Amino acid sequence: PSGLLQDRLHRPLHDLRISVTDRCNFRCTYCMPKEIFNKDYVYLPQTDLLSFEEILRIASMFVAHGVNKIRLTGGEPLLRKNLEELVQMLSTLKTNDGQAIDLTLTTNAALLAKKAQSLKDAGLSRITVSLDALNDRIFKQMNDVDFPVEQVLEGIQAAEAAGFHQIKINMVVKKSVNAQEIIPMARYFKDTPHILRFIEFMDVGSSNGWRMDEVMTSQQILQDLEQADMPLIALAPNSSSETATRYRHANDKGNDNGKGEIGFISSVSKAFCRDCSRARLSTQGMLYTCLFATQGHDLRQHLRNPELQLANLKISNLIKSIWETREDRYSELRGLGDKHASPLQQKIEMSYIGG
Ligand code: GTP
Ligand code: 5AD
Ligand code: SF4
Ligand code: SF4
Repeated sequence: PSGLLQDRLHRPLHDLRISVTDRCNFRCTYCMPKEIFNKDYVYLPQTDLLSFEEILRIASMFVAHGVNKIRLTGGEPLLRKNLEELVQMLSTLKTNDGQAIDLTLTTNAALLAKKAQSLKDAGLSRITVSLDALNDRIFKQMNDVDFPVEQVLEGIQAAEAAGFHQIKINMVVKKSVNAQEIIPMARYFKDTPHILRFIEFMDVGSSNGWRMDEVMTSQQILQDLEQADMPLIALAPNSSSETATRYRHANDKGNDNGKGEIGFISSVSKAFCRDCSRARLSTQGMLYTCLFATQGHDLRQHLRNPELQLANLKISNLIKSIWETREDRYSELRGLGDKHASPLQQKIEMSYIGG
């Protein structure tokens, strides 16, 4: 059958992460620090963005090559006008064996209260919300635009009401800023169906001033939880390419609907490149095979060829050859102290490549 590609490390292609805008209404210090993403920063012009039709064309080729999960990211994806239309278009895609694809979205939830219902109606399967603190002062320190935490919590409630029953909550921990929020966050989400995931602060991009001493490792967080009387029990992974290792609260009886589940995304302390099945499509139609890539492959230039069939064939073959020659494993190499893991060229910003 067509599809089912493997890269040089025998990793299949299963996930496509599509960035729909490089803009964001937050300035999280670990992602879009204000000093760099200020009023002089030049974002992509409107004409550079892939249209929804173009995104759909590329996405269908990825699905034909074995992708069964598509995530919309950014920047902040809800800033892209009429995003619901794109969701509706992508939700019609079927895998080679006729299954619906898993269509998900990562958002800061600032606009979620307004959009949750229409996203659900358009066919979005799941939502992940980034939330770094419950304490309003600390939350504002993290988003750096004075955005109140209350509105994010309202966004989560609206998503629940719209029928997103299990939401993943991503918390990036910067030791000196929001480490004290680990316990309150764990308590708050413990008795909900939602899954709280702690993410190690990563050295992605070139502008977030990353330092190892600002990283709280998953191991440290696990110990903190234990000391706060929240011991955890390991759970089996859902799939091999999962970014998070799963746990649940040991003091909870636990049940099937994920109540009390906690995840750890240990991108710094324990790289998960061996099972990385993710490709990333930038807002402009560049394909990247690693979050830490320094170079992408321009798919857009082929899209605009008037010979539609020919163009599609060309792009499809390109995706195949790019994946089949892929060797990326940045986090793993960096963990091994490999000098290739600290590229001299500028790494691509996460807000551009898609989180
Ligand atoms: P699901 O668990 O299926 O919902 O998807 P996911 O975990 O891939 O999605 P999510 O966008 O929530 O990813 C969580 C975070 O993990 C991201 O925001 C990144 O910080 C990190 N991450 C995701 N993919 C990669 C990757 O390929 N490499 C590295 N180093 N980090 C990643
Ligand atoms: N380290 C870890 N996670 C990050 N994210 C953005 N920048 C970083 C970083 N430097 C996460 C956000 C969000 C997703 C889009 O990526 O918290 O959940
Ligand atoms: Fe925006 Fe998300 Fe980056 Fe924060 S982490 S600046 S919310 S894209
Ligand atoms: Fe995949 Fe690159 Fe992240 Fe490793 S560092 S898990 S190869 S995206």
